Amino acid sequence: MSKMHVKMTVNGRAVEALAEPRTLLIHFLREDLALTGPHIGCETSHCGACTVDMNGRSVKACTVFAVQADGAEITTIEGLADPRSGLHPVQQAFVDHGAIQCGFCTPGMILSTKALLDENPDPTDDEIQEALLGNLCRCTGYVQILEAVRAAAAALRNETGGAS
Ligand code: FES
Ligand code: FES
Repeated sequence: MSKMHVKMTVNGRAVEALAEPRTLLIHFLREDLALTGPHIGCETSHCGACTVDMNGRSVKACTVFAVQADGAEITTIEGLADPRSGLHPVQQAFVDHGAIQCGFCTPGMILSTKALLDENPDPTDDEIQEALLGNLCRCTGYVQILEAVRAAAAALRNETGGAS
């Protein structure tokens, strides 16, 4: 199958590669760019393990062809921490609240949480649960994840000078 040129910005870095039209974004990220933080669980849009940020929205990278992401800005879990200040507040909250066990769901959970909090800095528990409906975790029972999201929201509000 003939390949197509794909250009995108991934974690702040311009990348350019050849991809077959059928190549899924998750495979492109993991196999062509060696970004193995986004995981492959179901490949049918159900588990959320492959979630990344694309142009400011969280998307499941198994539902997008790499060629559809041509020109996009993509952030994966590898691009979230700040090299100077350390872990992103959402990452830190997941660590602090024991919201990570095997870690398989964690990159997707964190990217979905970040997308939620970018849009809604003070979500209710119902809004958190709704935002994370598409991200499955087989380990934690979700209680610690909910606590982590609440804590991350408070930390981000404090960072931006909002009410806690
Ligand atoms: S691997 Fe994409 S949603 Fe499960
Ligand atoms: S921590 Fe294991 S699947 Fe969520």
